[in-house]
Amino acid sequence: MYSSLRPVAVLCCLAGFIPRVFSDTASDLSAALAQYPSLSNLRQLVNQQPTVINTLFGNNKNFTLLAPSNEAFSSFASSHDRSLPSAEPDLLKNTLSYHILAGGLTYSNFDGPRGITVPTLLTGELYNNRSSGVSLAANFGPGANGQVVLIQKQSDGYVQVQASLLQVNLTALDKQWSGGYIQMVDHVFDLPKNCTETMEDTDGLDALYEALKESGAYGPIDTMPNVTCLGPNDDAFNAAGNPQKNFNTSETNWMVRSHVIPQPLYPDQIQNGLVLQTLRNTSIEVRVEGEHIFFNNARVQSTALTNNGVVYVVDKILARDPTPASGSAPTSTTDPSPSPTKNAADKPSATKQFLLAVIVAGSFSLL
Ligand SMILES: *[C@@H]1O[C@H](CO)[C@@H](O)[C@H](O)[C@H]1NC(C)=O
Ligand SMILES: *[C@@H]1O[C@H](CO)[C@@H](O)[C@H](O)[C@H]1NC(C)=O
Ligand SMILES: *[C@@H]1O[C@H](CO)[C@@H](O)[C@H](O)[C@H]1NC(C)=O
Ligand SMILES: *[C@@H]1O[C@H](CO)[C@@H](O)[C@H](O)[C@H]1NC(C)=O
Ligand SMILES: *[C@@H]1O[C@H](CO)[C@@H](O)[C@H](O)[C@H]1NC(C)=O
Ligand SMILES: *[C@@H]1O[C@H](CO)[C@@H](O)[C@H](O)[C@H]1NC(C)=O
Ligand SMILES: *[C@@H]1O[C@H](CO)[C@@H](O)[C@H](O)[C@H]1NC(C)=O
Repeated sequence: MYSSLRPVAVLCCLAGFIPRVFSDTASDLSAALAQYPSLSNLRQLVNQQPTVINTLFGNNKNFTLLAPSNEAFSSFASSHDRSLPSAEPDLLKNTLSYHILAGGLTYSNFDGPRGITVPTLLTGELYNNRSSGVSLAANFGPGANGQVVLIQKQSDGYVQVQASLLQVNLTALDKQWSGGYIQMVDHVFDLPKNCTETMEDTDGLDALYEALKESGAYGPIDTMPNVTCLGPNDDAFNAAGNPQKNFNTSETNWMVRSHVIPQPLYPDQIQNGLVLQTLRNTSIEVRVEGEHIFFNNARVQSTALTNNGVVYVVDKILARDPTPASGSAPTSTTDPSPSPTKNAADKPSATKQFLLAVIVAGSFSLL
């Protein structure tokens, strides 16, 4: 009886030993975080969830953890009605993986004029239906295919991180530990959503979102990998003289497809003079003037990352380029000049026609 228990005891000891071997990363991380009182909530989480941490980091020695501060933990708890440590296991794992950069980066790496696009460990098509281009692969290796964040040092020396819709502040700690580096951020990142959802959550895109919801025009784009979407803001709709949002499906489709570029073009890949082809085979020219980026004459107001690429909020509806790129012919037969409506009560139709005319005419009045 006594002796038959022995192997069990030995097994127990082995079982106790094996996790300890793998838990080196988590305990190293915990020790590194112990130096920073404002990271004590994260340290507690690391201590509670060593397996999650060890699985995420593996044996990698050159990742960067964007460590959410205690302040970030509190604001997560108040906006989500539960604390990060008590989040569903999948949400916790995905959220943490979006905070781990697939490269070792310090303050000096954030200098570029339009910042740096950095792949994280967040994968899976729900949050990452895009893949790396040549420039990302060159900087971070071909395996670094996770969803990205954008990191940029401002002229005042502060560093901001764009993650999904959020812009958060980064405090450079440049803390080295066995898994790479640690930097501190003041918000917990939300996971990226699809284009339509992102637009719904973005300030100033109400008119566009209403048009999209009505028509479902974005459905196909939401599930298309690798896109850049230009989202004209409410001012753009108003400037086009069109506060009405009742466009029919084909009109909205028309507009949407001439505002989508089938490749994710992140800010640090933008170059003056770049010509891009839209899903409508129209072309858009990119211009850089100091800190400002223009697509044709529409100026970029803000940026958001979606699961399948990037959204730029712009201040104008893009007129169609008068000379479509090769391989396409204008298909619309709409009269380029807006004609007065016969029935004054038919307001949506007048509005639709006006918007269509504006877009179809490629009118220089907008430019
Ligand atoms: C760590 O990652 C950075 C960013 O990807 C890279 O530039 C650097 O060469 C890497 N260092 C090592 C030792 O692999
Ligand atoms: C996404 O775009 C990148 C280039 O930016 C390309 O290498 C990759 O193959 C594309 N992926 C898909 C699924 O189209
Ligand atoms: C982020 O940093 C900027 C300075 O660049 C500051 O004005 C802003 O208040 C900070 N935001 C938060 C949420 O602390
Ligand atoms: C976009 O995301 C929302 C929320 O996850 C989902 O309900 C919707 O079906 C998605 N749209 C498409 C076209 O997949
Ligand atoms: C991801 O892209 C594929 C096409 O490559 C599409 O079938 C799928 O629905 C997309 N997934 C999501 C979550 O949007
Ligand atoms: C959408 O509206 C335009 C202009 O009012 C019209 O020419 C077109 O036939 C309409 N399409 C549908 C599917 O109703
Ligand atoms: C755009 O051009 C490609 C060939 O370059 C063609 O296959 C496609 O049908 C065209 N699309 C439109 C909307 O004209």
